[in-house]
Amino acid sequence: MSLSTTEKTALGAICALGLLVLAFDYPAGRTPRQAEAPPPTPYALATAEADARAATARAEADRARSEREATAKAETERLAAVQNPGETEDILPAGHGREEVFARCTACHSTAIIRRSGFSRDRWDELMDWMTEKQGMAPLEGDIRTLVVDYLAQHFPPRRSPRNANPFLN
Ligand code: HEC
Repeated sequence: MSLSTTEKTALGAICALGLLVLAFDYPAGRTPRQAEAPPPTPYALATAEADARAATARAEADRARSEREATAKAETERLAAVQNPGETEDILPAGHGREEVFARCTACHSTAIIRRSGFSRDRWDELMDWMTEKQGMAPLEGDIRTLVVDYLAQHFPPRRSPRNANPFLN
């Protein structure tokens, strides 16, 4: 475990307070050197206590802030991965229909979700309806639908599951 500077300061302040209390309580005469030191005044004790409380509060605020920052960063990265404005058409395999797929399918998400999918032509076709009904995609009909679905089916077919593959035929 590593401590932040603020946490170290807080710990330091708490230790200092503890030492002050010890020094104050130490029976007089036990060690002559300590007996000579004047006991901390109530004001000094109160100040040390207030400092320790402030340091703890600062450490707590720091921790909350870094937690918020981490959450915001993760969310930004998630959105960037979903929208990915940096993608260009050539991220998709060349072929008839690529332009249409890229234009119509990257309004809401990157091509990553497409590239990692593998479906039969029927499943891709169904997915178009699902995208329209559930995700609000503009309906894809007629020639353009055929073009898009053909492209998807050709370039992103179902992946053979390794468990069903015959090792002697591959
Ligand atoms: C109107 C917005 C929108 C458009 C346009 C759109 N999608 Fe989607 N798509 C989504 C949303 C939302 C999801 C679901 C994300 C989730 O919940 O995981 C999704 C999920 C997917 C999935 C994953 C399905 C799964 O669960 O396995 C694929 C594949 C996909 N889209 C392909 C496409 C293709 C191909 C096109 C173009 C024909 C397209 N999308 C256009 C919104 C859209």
